[in-house]
Amino acid sequence: MLKGAIIGCGFFAANHLAAWRLIDGAETVAVCDTDRARAEAAAAATDGATVFTDAATMLATAELDFVDVITTAPSHRPLVELAARHRVPVICQKPFAPTMEDAQAMVDACASAGVPLMVHENFRWQSPLMAVKKVIEAGEIGEPSYARIQFRHAYDIYTNQPYLKTEPQLAIMDLGIHLLDLARYLMGEATRLHCRTQRINPDVAGEDCVTILLDHAGGAVSLVDFSFFTKLEPDPFPQTLVRIEGTRGTVELLAGYRMRVSGPGWSREEDVEPAVPPFGAKPWHNIQESVVNIQRHWVECLRAGSEPATSGADNLKTIDLVFKAYQSAETGRAL
Ligand SMILES: NC(=O)c1ccc[n+]([C@@H]2O[C@H](COP(=O)([O-])OP(=O)(O)OC[C@H]3O[C@@H](n4cnc5c(N)ncnc54)[C@H](O)[C@@H]3O)[C@@H](O)[C@H]2O)c1
Repeated sequence: MLKGAIIGCGFFAANHLAAWRLIDGAETVAVCDTDRARAEAAAAATDGATVFTDAATMLATAELDFVDVITTAPSHRPLVELAARHRVPVICQKPFAPTMEDAQAMVDACASAGVPLMVHENFRWQSPLMAVKKVIEAGEIGEPSYARIQFRHAYDIYTNQPYLKTEPQLAIMDLGIHLLDLARYLMGEATRLHCRTQRINPDVAGEDCVTILLDHAGGAVSLVDFSFFTKLEPDPFPQTLVRIEGTRGTVELLAGYRMRVSGPGWSREEDVEPAVPPFGAKPWHNIQESVVNIQRHWVECLRAGSEPATSGADNLKTIDLVFKAYQSAETGRAL
C-alpha cells in the first residue's frame, strides 16, 4: 500500500481525499495545512491520518511514498522543492506555477532528485473527453482540421473559491489552463496563438471571458473560448463542449454529455455521461470522476515506473500557452 500525504486541506482537497479512499493501493496517512482546523477536518475524512501544520516537519518525520499538493500556485514551488529534497514523488495541483521560471525550477528539482512529478491536470481524464479522443484515434472522422473547445457559464465559482475574485489573472490561469491542455491532448502541440480577453463582470479583478485561436503542428486550428459570465438556461457548468471536424466527419460533445459523431449521410449518438462517484454529486460528477481517474493513473505510474501523462515536463507546454495567451492579449499580437 502506497502511503500518501496531502498538503493543503481547502475546498478542492475534499475531492482528492475522497478519491484516494476509492483507489486500491494507496492510502492517506498524513494531512497538512497551515490552518490546523482545516487539517483536522481533512483528517476526519481519512482512516486516522496524522495531522501536521508544517510541511517541512511532515516530510522530515512521516514515512511517505508520495505527497499530493493541493494549495494555490504561489506555494507550489517551495512545497514541490521540499518534496524533491526528501526524494518523495509529488503531485501538484494546477495552475502549476505563477511563472515559467517556477515551473521549470520544479521540473528540474524533481528530475535531478530522480522523483516523479505529476501536475493534477484532470480535465483530460474526464471520460466524455476521453471518448472524443478515442473517436479521433480510431480514425472515424479522418484527419482533424478544426476544433472548438468551449466552456461558458455563469455558475457562482466565487463562493467556493473566494480568492478568484481578486486574481488579476483570472480565467486563463484558472480554467483556460485546462482547455489549452485539452487542445494539446485532442489536436496535438500548438505552434502559435492569438488571444483576446474581456472583463465583463464588474465585481472581479481579472479577465472573465476569453477567446483564443491556436495553430497546431500539421496545420489544424482550434478555437478555445470560455466565460464565467454567460447567462443562459440551462447553464452547462461544468461541462466542456467540443466540436472537432475532420476530413471524413465531425465529433461533437454536446450539452447533457451527448457525443454525436456524423458525416455526410451517417450519424450516431452516444450517452457519455460519467457515473457519479460514491462521494460525488451532480453537477460536479464530471470533475469528481476525473479526479479519481488521474489519481489512479498516478498510482499505476508509480507502480510501473512510467511517466504520468501530465508530468511536470509535459505541463510546461500547457503553462507556456497560458503565459503566451496573457502576452498576446496584452500586446494584441499573435505569438
Ligand atoms: N482541477 C480542478 O477542477 C480544480 C477545482 C478547484 C480548485 N483547483 C485548484 O486546487 C488548488 C487549491 O484550490 P482550493 O480552492 O482548494 O484552495 P483553498 O484556498 O480552499 O485551499 C488551499 C489550502 O492550502 C493551505 N495552504 C496554503 N499554503 C500552504 C502551505 N505552505 N502548507 C500547508 N498548507 C497550505 C491553505 O491554508 C488552504 O487551506 C488551486 O490551485 C486551484 O486552482 C482545481
